[in-house]
Amino acid sequence: MKVRRFGKTGLRVSEIGFGCWALGGHAYGPVRDKDSLEALAAAWDSGVNFFDTADTYGEGHSEELLGKFLKGKPRDRLILATKCGWDFYAPSQKPASLSQGSPAKLNHAGHKKNFDTGYIRFACEQSLKRFGTDVIDLFQLHNPSLELIRRGDLVSVLEGLKKEGKIRFIGVSVHTETEALAVLEDSRIQAIQIIFNLLDQRMAERIFPEAEKKGIGIIVREALASGLLSGKYAPAHEFPKDDHRRRWVPEKREVDWQKIRLIQKMLRSGSQPLPKVALEFALAFEEVSTVIVGAKTRTQVLENVEASLKPALSREDVVRLKELYAREEIFRKALIPR
Ligand SMILES: NC(=O)c1ccc[n+]([C@@H]2O[C@H](COP(=O)([O-])OP(=O)(O)OC[C@H]3O[C@@H](n4cnc5c(N)ncnc54)[C@H](OP(=O)(O)O)[C@@H]3O)[C@@H](O)[C@H]2O)c1
Repeated sequence: MKVRRFGKTGLRVSEIGFGCWALGGHAYGPVRDKDSLEALAAAWDSGVNFFDTADTYGEGHSEELLGKFLKGKPRDRLILATKCGWDFYAPSQKPASLSQGSPAKLNHAGHKKNFDTGYIRFACEQSLKRFGTDVIDLFQLHNPSLELIRRGDLVSVLEGLKKEGKIRFIGVSVHTETEALAVLEDSRIQAIQIIFNLLDQRMAERIFPEAEKKGIGIIVREALASGLLSGKYAPAHEFPKDDHRRRWVPEKREVDWQKIRLIQKMLRSGSQPLPKVALEFALAFEEVSTVIVGAKTRTQVLENVEASLKPALSREDVVRLKELYAREEIFRKALIPR
């Protein structure tokens, strides 16, 4: 597995990282811990050293599984990234002095947005306990609002945790380009997590060069467009009950499917599997530090790491995929607003 520079952190991260959202359960349909632990082991054996999770994934379960997996591993060779800001704790699980979060802002799991100072400190302590470690390598704010990013006081809280030795580096996970630009304005932040894939290449234009200039590590997420870029989900496919993809509206599914068909048509027949092309495409941008792919099984992991172990996408194909995206009007449709 090839490794890359991770901004100015001094860390070397594997090109393919492991996204641990699905492992928590209730996000990508049913998962079994046995499969998840096998998937993590396969990733480690293939040279993956960067693992991204969040406390909200399965209400701590994803972190707990990672904690289990961590046991007996050389801690200094493994980069542990998690996130905070979605509050799933019952009032009885938290000190009474802490805020309960905003009931007006819920994520797909019904967790409340909570970026209050005291709560963030509490969340960090809880994540450390679940991991069974004394330091989190990258602690990320999980989709803070633009206003919060611009205010910057939360980063001061994380700086405090850094001084106390509880976290090593500070990151922010964002949705939009405007949020990403605001993050890049704050020199105390070491990494940014963004959406980038064959269907949504917007971050390449301004964010990639700007982050590179400022020495901020880029973590690419949803490089498989949440599994769509496997090519296995035609618009009529029905997702199981506890799969967040059930919320995709029919219009978006139809448009995304048409985009995928255009990509498949452009790629030569008999070329590589679509997920491998999608991952290699993200890695073709040298500003990208790591691509965190979500995987539920050992088989998926072994397919995904091939993008770094045996890359085969030509420079010409990368250019053609960029040109297709720029040329075809349909790629401007069904995107999350900037
Ligand atoms: N707001 C945020 O900060 C945020 C949001 C989203 C994600 N993330 C992070 O980014 C990571 C990656 O994103 P993601 O997991 O949502 O999306 P993703 O990596 O684009 O897609 C992952 C899904 O694709 C399918 N898949 C994986 N490998 C495959 C293969 N070789 N062939 C066919 N299908 C395959 C699996 O689901 P199926 O087999 O069921 O299709 C898997 O759960 C997450 O795990 C999480 O760590 C962060």
